[in-house]
Amino acid sequence: MGRIVLKWGGGVITEKSAHCIARREMIASLSECAVKLAYAGHEVIIVHGAGSFGHIDAKHYRLNEGYLGDLSESGINQIEGVDVVRKQMNCLNSLVHDHLSEAASRVGKEDVKELLIITHEPRDFALNSGADFAGDIDIFALNPEESEGKYVIHLTFGDVVNCSEPTKFGILSGDHLMYRIATELTDVTHCIFAMDEPGILTEPGKNGDLITVWNPELGINGVHNETIDVTGGIFLKAEIAAKIADVVEHVWFVYGGSPELILDIVESGVTTGTKIISKA
Ligand code: IPE
Repeated sequence: MGRIVLKWGGGVITEKSAHCIARREMIASLSECAVKLAYAGHEVIIVHGAGSFGHIDAKHYRLNEGYLGDLSESGINQIEGVDVVRKQMNCLNSLVHDHLSEAASRVGKEDVKELLIITHEPRDFALNSGADFAGDIDIFALNPEESEGKYVIHLTFGDVVNCSEPTKFGILSGDHLMYRIATELTDVTHCIFAMDEPGILTEPGKNGDLITVWNPELGINGVHNETIDVTGGIFLKAEIAAKIADVVEHVWFVYGGSPELILDIVESGVTTGTKIISKA
């Protein structure tokens, strides 16, 4: 069986506009889904976003702009901000880790193999932001001896990473991690983005209809809330997903509050959501 790469959007696992508030019930149900996939024999890689654990303070400290020199006149210490946001990401990541461990003991399995949950902090393996960051993606694939007798879930997240001088630091989006992981590892069968919308819509909000199959020629009629979002929102996600669809067969956007949609895709190849294809 192959690898399944999942993005848990920050908008699903956190209250996006309430500072550092997690949506624990969402994390619990997504964790159960990921553990079920691992127990079914898939190698699972989860990339989670930041939501209100990263974006709000990254914006405040202007971390997405890189090092801007002395900003003490405006009361901002960016170096302190790097630390603040990294700690918040660690906090969210520990919550995710705990829910995965809890799900691992609750979900039934047919053998005694243990589940290994391995966190890779981007600040430790990635340099620079954007899709072409420097970093060894092979860490997301264990050697057969290392995974022998174990189920494995790899976990990573959008983060504040170091950048070459003079930029010093920047925000590496989970979507760029998705791109590199999905296109550089072998045997990736599925790449599924769990979002706080049912997929790509014809227009934002309640009047939007779900687009069931999307390719870049259709464009996106969306909004990007730059006042709270320091990465690219739906536009970045769709552009990246289409590139992934060049090499991965099943690329989907689904509503993360219903993780059974993810199981449907893996079990039957279809669900309610948007299937992303690279060209019309
Ligand atoms: C952003 O990561 C990381 C930080 C702001 C530290 P993502 O771009 O993957 O996060 P979401 O999914 O939009 O919240």
